[in-house]
Amino acid sequence: MSRILVTGGLGYIGSHTVVELMQQGHNVVIVDNLSNSTIEVLEGIEAITNTKPCFENLDCNDYVGMERLFNSYPDIDAVIHFAASKAVGESVEKPLLYYRNNIGSLVVLLELMNAHGVHNIVFSSSCTVYGQPDEKHLPVDENAPIQKALSPYGNTKQVNEQILRDTAHANKSLNVVLLRYFNPIGAHPTALIGELPNGIPNNLLPYVTQTAAGVRNELKIFGDDYNTPDGSCIRDYIYVVDLAKAHVKALQRMLHGECDEQVEVYNLGTGHGVSVFEIVNTFKEVTGVNLPYVVVGRREGDIEQVWADATKANAKLNWKADTPLADVLKSAWEWEKKLRNIAE
Ligand code: UFG
Repeated sequence: MSRILVTGGLGYIGSHTVVELMQQGHNVVIVDNLSNSTIEVLEGIEAITNTKPCFENLDCNDYVGMERLFNSYPDIDAVIHFAASKAVGESVEKPLLYYRNNIGSLVVLLELMNAHGVHNIVFSSSCTVYGQPDEKHLPVDENAPIQKALSPYGNTKQVNEQILRDTAHANKSLNVVLLRYFNPIGAHPTALIGELPNGIPNNLLPYVTQTAAGVRNELKIFGDDYNTPDGSCIRDYIYVVDLAKAHVKALQRMLHGECDEQVEVYNLGTGHGVSVFEIVNTFKEVTGVNLPYVVVGRREGDIEQVWADATKANAKLNWKADTPLADVLKSAWEWEKKLRNIAE
């Protein structure tokens, strides 16, 4: 049985991945500083898996604390590094916070992995590295050009990828898998864990479910004059549980020595583009709940359309994100109802 260190393991994608790892028999150690999560998530994980994972309330930038952790768990086989700040707008206001949290923590981790003979890391990257791909690159595969980042957040993901490549180049025993996520949505089918946005949500789905719950008055749709079939932006919305399962597959591939390259890159998406209006209409259809919305101007920095060519992940990881959108949206609504104590 392998021992996996999961940083940010109480966050949205981290917690769903911890559940899948535990259900596949891995021993997990979670590191999380609760900056964008709560300790109740640990109870959710325990309720789903019937096991309490090891948890350390630690900041990945705390070198001394992290060193103590590596000493306490000398059997770590691999790291999955989720811990990061992730709000695009906030990163524009507070760039240094993002450079410290997202760049500093990876450097600390890699130094300690090196010192403690840990040779495997799976890293949370983002489709943001592709910016707005040209039409000829849609759907976007892993070889599409990387574009200049539009925010400090996006830049941290690009720099993180480069740091991992440089470190792997210098240390041939280090294996790296870069997972470029498209738009994760939904919650665990048990409704025991899900997304917990801080304050007013920036992302579409939590805004939709909070509006449906009456916490927000109306959803603002950012633009209906894009060059897309219905005028709203198109994204590749991937079920968070499907995304979590891809991490387990990537990890197993690594631990079994099956990687073709020292640094492997995978796009994780469904391969289908869905517009904002399609999300809104499908949500209303499957939940039967009223969802007031208003179309407003475009949001600065938004990409018009992007969706994944996930052929490589489908083939090499033997994985596919195939949960129907209707089920995913239902799971998001079940979670919101649970959070707000809303009956049927
Ligand atoms: N949207 C609305 N109203 C809202 C929120 C979002 O219309 O209240 C629209 C956006 O304009 C966009 C779509 O819904 O067209 C999705 O927006 P999100 O904010 O949910 O997601 P983004 O695609 O903008 O951002 C996500 C991640 C980022 C990542 C980026 C990469 O949240 O971390 O993908 O493209 F950098």
